[in-house]
Amino acid sequence: MSERIIIFDTTLRDGEQSPGAALNVTEKLEIARQLEKLRVDVIEAGFPVSSPTQFEAVRRIADSVSVGVAALARAREEDIRSAWQSLRGARKPRIHTFSSTSDYHITGKFGSDRYGRSLKEKRQTVLRMSREAVAYAKTLCDDVEFSAEDAGRTDIGYLAEVIEAAIEAGATTVNIPDTTGYTLPDEYRRKIAGLKQRVSNIDRAVISVHCHNDLGLAVANSLASLEAGARQIECTVNGIGERAGNASLEEIVMALKVRGDLLKWQTGINTREIYNSSRLVSGFTGLIVQPNKAIVGANAFSHESGIHQDGMLKNRETYEIMTPEEVGVPKTRIVLGRHSGRHGLKARLNELGYTPDEEALNALYARFTDLADKKKEVYDDDLRILMGDHDRGESSGLGLEFLQVHLGTHAIPTASIRLKTEEGLIEESATGDGPVAAVFNAIERALGQKFAIESYQVRSVTSGRGALGEALLRIRVRERSFNGRGISTDVVEASARAFLMAINRMRQNGDSKKQSNKEKSTAVLSHTA
Ligand code: KIV
Ligand code: ZN
Repeated sequence: MSERIIIFDTTLRDGEQSPGAALNVTEKLEIARQLEKLRVDVIEAGFPVSSPTQFEAVRRIADSVSVGVAALARAREEDIRSAWQSLRGARKPRIHTFSSTSDYHITGKFGSDRYGRSLKEKRQTVLRMSREAVAYAKTLCDDVEFSAEDAGRTDIGYLAEVIEAAIEAGATTVNIPDTTGYTLPDEYRRKIAGLKQRVSNIDRAVISVHCHNDLGLAVANSLASLEAGARQIECTVNGIGERAGNASLEEIVMALKVRGDLLKWQTGINTREIYNSSRLVSGFTGLIVQPNKAIVGANAFSHESGIHQDGMLKNRETYEIMTPEEVGVPKTRIVLGRHSGRHGLKARLNELGYTPDEEALNALYARFTDLADKKKEVYDDDLRILMGDHDRGESSGLGLEFLQVHLGTHAIPTASIRLKTEEGLIEESATGDGPVAAVFNAIERALGQKFAIESYQVRSVTSGRGALGEALLRIRVRERSFNGRGISTDVVEASARAFLMAINRMRQNGDSKKQSNKEKSTAVLSHTA
């Protein structure tokens, strides 16, 4: 029998730290429910002390799912208290506290003399803070995880001391993050093996790994660590996360499944929920999955060349090491049309893993009938896209009620819009260099606020003449980015929806103040479609 590995999913915490990926509470809750279906062991739901939205999201998730729920906290009483308050309703709560242990981090973050004059003294301070943080967390919660941030670049002797102190203080899981994605697989494996040798009480805790992907080695490093004794892997759906992201959950899980001949560890993951999870996360975060992404990319199971297609027809195993069905990739089929009712839509959405409430279903049904009128045949993929696009922000914030654009070879593009706002309807019009710029200008004029647009793309996401166009856009406001995504058979409308979604997210994250003139002047619009 192969040994069971704990899958600790941090999509909702580290994954949400991807630029622009801020999620609202409802979206987080929906993803958490999907992660439960996927059967992850622990969901890291957020960093409660960092904002009221984070706190509320962790609290709601803790109340709703039966798998483990972790909340992140720096090694400070205030953080740990807030983490615990958000976790109270959880069936299996875990406080996850961390300190920085590498000399890079210690000198950078603990530069002030109050932490000690020399590096040696500062290290002692961090050691003491780590021990005290774990001890305090332990007075509140039995399950305490301690992470040594930037362990990948931490001196092994000092790292062993900190880990030993954390276990002594009550940590039940000790995490050894490769925070900067710097290590190589064998080096990382040796680091874990070194800790097993040096830390006298290591058998009293589960060793966890948390790898970032800056060199594209996050999954390789995570797998290598198992050989040395790691038994928890921290990862994210689609590998999203800070900078180049975290180890990808689906790649780790499928590597363990497909190569069970050499990798003697198994997970409890229901692999058939992988694709649904990937689509949901991509839809809500606005982070698209590259087509050639392993396991969940659009091309992961496509065979293009004649030789490959021929081989596949004769025997699937010629070119496939796993089946699309195993990871829940559906066969494309027509599911609904313009005569389908609300019931049919709901049933199919449930089959695809979505559980919209009545209000959301009503809004979706309106979008669905609109789409069915334009497209005639509505596929599963269209529904997934509608689901991802169904902007909860819109229903609780700004919404597009009406849009008309006038353009022509010799005409100045002019857009007229009607927006639904908390205060009522606002109508505006504006011109622009192109139809999209005109719409954005009209929206900005209606709101009396300018936005710096960091990135903007339009692409087709379904096939055929009635294909859906997807607009992805990111705005930047006071050092923070917010993604928006809009879908429509009309790319100008999709762009308007994407813009509004990003603005709604900004507002939900409490950043609705007017921009500075400097930010206004950096507003750029580049149409890459
Ligand atoms: O990358 C990292 O070190 C982290 C810790 C907070 C676990 O995300
Ligand atoms: Zn991380």
